[in-house]
Amino acid sequence: MSTLDRRDFLRHSLAAGAGAAALGRLPDLSVPRNAGRGANPIIITSHTNETGQEAMRQAWEILASGGMALDAVEKGANIVEVDPNDHSVGYGGLPNAAGVVQLDASCMDGKTYSAGSVACIENIKTPSSVARAVMEHTDHVMLVGKGALAFAVSMGFKEENILTPEAREIWIRWRENLSPNDAYGPPVYLRNRSGGGGSDRRPVESHHGTVNVLAVDSNGDVAGITTTSGLSWKVPGRVGDSPIIGAGLYVDNSVGAAGATGRGEDVMKSLASYFIVGRMRDGRTPQQACEDAIEMIVQRYKAVNIDYVPGEKFVALNKDGEVGCAYMGGGGGPPALTMHTPGGQTQYKGTSLYPVRR
Ligand code: GLY
Repeated sequence: MSTLDRRDFLRHSLAAGAGAAALGRLPDLSVPRNAGRGANPIIITSHTNETGQEAMRQAWEILASGGMALDAVEKGANIVEVDPNDHSVGYGGLPNAAGVVQLDASCMDGKTYSAGSVACIENIKTPSSVARAVMEHTDHVMLVGKGALAFAVSMGFKEENILTPEAREIWIRWRENLSPNDAYGPPVYLRNRSGGGGSDRRPVESHHGTVNVLAVDSNGDVAGITTTSGLSWKVPGRVGDSPIIGAGLYVDNSVGAAGATGRGEDVMKSLASYFIVGRMRDGRTPQQACEDAIEMIVQRYKAVNIDYVPGEKFVALNKDGEVGCAYMGGGGGPPALTMHTPGGQTQYKGTSLYPVRR
């Protein structure tokens, strides 16, 4: 059979419904689980602080008035992104090792099976909206670095300095405490002199926060965003899990959505969000699916280093309005999420499976 013949054969086979047989034991992914019926809207975020709560309040107004899940998650993500006091996301995020803030974000719309993302984008406060623009205004899924910035500017996004004085100050302190043997810091004769003086010599730890926002609207459509400034002090050019579809975020309109925060390197290798959504498709609750992802990652590392426990947090929701949250190793903040439903706003407490990071 020629290539063309073979392609035609496959196309016709799928059209005739023989696709399921060709795909073996896969469920029919074309049929939404609650097709044809409305849903109770719900929106959740991995952030439990005041900004996260305010984000859910404002995003909820969109859902409550019959708006789209996609608009709601963007609204919620933007509120966190422009908060200068949040050092893990958007404006005010901590920079890379060179003192430059490079942001990663992804957006996925279950209704249209579309996704967009940006990585290492600089000088834009709301990378999640750029990710949405990539999704809606290009035939691509991911843009990076200078190309992502140029695209954002072409779409009307404002290019501006997003390194706040506070974030710069933390970065300067990190640089001065990297090594006692380099030239950063006060003159050597002023360091550690008796009687005090010199710079603050407390080590500055790295930080990898992120925000996930996931929603189901009254039409039963699902959308999600994950956005972050990534691991602080990262090697310039490093990309984490947040803009990788399937890693930091995954949405399936027939099942629900999942998102990850914490050490992206662990999440990227496991495609944890895709894994969680797959587990939910198989009938696991969002809570069970998040815990399954943690067990899966821990087991894989066990074979290599029995003492290593990664630091991650997963959140998920399904189309029935159930939510889940699980965390390990002290990564990604408390094992909880903020949710808003027709019943109001609450905090959902998840599980901490491997709380101690060794
Ligand atoms: N989860 C965010 C990052 O590792 O970049």
